[in-house]
Amino acid sequence: MAEAKPRVAILMGSPNDHGIMKPAEDTLGSLGIGSDVRVISAHRTPDRLTSFLAEAEERGIEVVICGAGGAAHLAGVTAAHTLLPVLGVPIESSPLNGLDALLATVQMPGGIPVGTLAIGQAGAKNAALLAAAIIARKDPEVRAALARFREEQSARVPERP
Ligand code: RP5
Repeated sequence: MAEAKPRVAILMGSPNDHGIMKPAEDTLGSLGIGSDVRVISAHRTPDRLTSFLAEAEERGIEVVICGAGGAAHLAGVTAAHTLLPVLGVPIESSPLNGLDALLATVQMPGGIPVGTLAIGQAGAKNAALLAAAIIARKDPEVRAALARFREEQSARVPERP
C-alpha cells in the first residue's frame, strides 16, 4: 500500500528524541494519517526550521507536533513561524527530567499559542491523537478511525483485575 501523504509534521530537536517521539508517528500511522518526521532544532538548525515551515502548509501539512527537551523553545519558535496548530511535547532529556521542557513549552506568553501535552511518550501519543481530532473535524474517515481507536481502547480494559 502506498504511504499516506503527510498531513502532520513531527519535528524533534535531536535524533536522541526519536525514541520518545516514536509513539506519535506510530499512532498517526495506525489512524491512517501520514507524517513527515524531521530532526530540526530551533537553535542548532534555525534555517532548516524556517525553510521547512515556509513550505509546510502548501505541502499539505495540517498540524505540527514538536518534541524538545531542556530549554525547549522548538514549539514556540515553530508557532511563531506558522498559522498551523502547533502541539508541543516536552522531552525528559535533561538533568531536570523534562520539567524544564514542560515549563518552557507550556508557558508561552499570550499571542502565540502552543498546545502542550504531557512529558514524554504519553505526550507524544496524545499529541498524535489531538492532531487526529483536529483533522477529524473536516475528515469523516479520520473521525471514524478515531472513534474505532476509542472503542478498541475501551474493549481492552478488563472489567475485573
Ligand atoms: C534539545 O536538547 C533536544 O530536543 C534534546 O532533547 C536536547 C538534547 O539534545 P542532544 O544534545 O541529545 O542532541 O534541543
